[in-house]
Amino acid sequence: MITFYCALDRDIVVFYISLCDFVRYILTMCEITAKGEATLFEEAKQKFRSIFGKKAAAAASAPGRVNLIGEHVDYCEGLVLPVALPFTTIVVGAYNSLEECRIHTVLASGEELKTSFPSSSAEPLKPGDPAWANYVKGVLANFPVAVRGFDAVIVSDVPMGAGVSSSASLEVAFFTFLESLTGQRTGLVEKAKLCQKAEHEFPGMPCGIMDQYIVSMGKKDHALLIDCRSLQATQIPLQTDDAVILVINSNVKHQLTGSEYPLRRAQCQEAAKVLKLPSLREAHSEDLGELKRLTSDPDVIKRAKHVVEEIKRTEDAATLLPKKDLEEVGRLFYESHDSLSKLMEVSCPELDQLVDIMRSSPGVYGARMTGGGFGGCMIALVEEKYVEDVKSRVLKEYKGNPTFFICNPSDGAKILQII
Ligand code: GLA
Repeated sequence: MITFYCALDRDIVVFYISLCDFVRYILTMCEITAKGEATLFEEAKQKFRSIFGKKAAAAASAPGRVNLIGEHVDYCEGLVLPVALPFTTIVVGAYNSLEECRIHTVLASGEELKTSFPSSSAEPLKPGDPAWANYVKGVLANFPVAVRGFDAVIVSDVPMGAGVSSSASLEVAFFTFLESLTGQRTGLVEKAKLCQKAEHEFPGMPCGIMDQYIVSMGKKDHALLIDCRSLQATQIPLQTDDAVILVINSNVKHQLTGSEYPLRRAQCQEAAKVLKLPSLREAHSEDLGELKRLTSDPDVIKRAKHVVEEIKRTEDAATLLPKKDLEEVGRLFYESHDSLSKLMEVSCPELDQLVDIMRSSPGVYGARMTGGGFGGCMIALVEEKYVEDVKSRVLKEYKGNPTFFICNPSDGAKILQII
């Protein structure tokens, strides 16, 4: 029993709060919940009206994502298995009579930013400052038709720097908004490819296709098995009975545009080149022995081993999930994490500690870091009745400040009707 005393004037008010209630209160404070599309949409429309003094005429939304397995393999044409999240980015707007795009954005933290740049019908767009605007400029520059001046408001509750694809969410939401504004529609795979190209050219992040693909094509209650070589995908029903995917944000901010992500990608390309293969997707475990003979670079060998084995794990997980073989899926999660930590070297001490806490927690089938790494989130497959215990344990043992949410697979990007 914990006792709080609180003095008010001459009276002494005594609160008795049980330890359980206290822990429950702290846990609620660490819970992140999606605001919901309807609420965010209202917020965006009102903000647009108050800033630009007119009604928005076009709108779209796109979610964030977590990847269940298949990490750091999309840029090697591998297999990935992500799901779309209920956290969303909404873009609303309307044409103006200027040759200028004026954009206001409200972040998940409540912070507001604004920018303006020439419309793509006025002059070719170039990357520049502020850095965040490059995500939207890149999309506008890669949109299939030139667009005249418009005003837009962006609101988002996708956590930033958490490895849940706030960037792809913004790119795909913005692209879909432009489709709604101009009436010019694009196929979903083409849209994902154009948004990926935008991210390569403007913010300068040489990402794979996974994020833009799942954000465009996610489906409620499903994971998407994406073949990053053929660019074909299969919806995998995600009914795990009494188990849930618990996402734990390490709250170590990741920043992938630095040197580490491009370096991993280059090392994988080098391994494929040494093996005379178009990509590591074509490599088999036997090729790893050959690679050791052909190169003396230990990093290139480690990265290739991760990619070859992770692609196999992803294929296996996609078969095991519909069979509800959670023990085995959990084992693959742990293997994937160990490989990302030791072979790919994209984890960090905080993510490793969170996964270690999971290994000794009752009710956890498996856990791994998710996304680009160097911080961000970890996912764990947990028996539902143990979720609160697992969270309490993390609060007690984790050295950082964790936040939690349950991953409820949601739909991908869509045009929203303004009424
Ligand atoms: C980032 C990239 C993706 C993918 C993941 C790692 O999220 O944007 O393309 O490479 O890292 O799996």
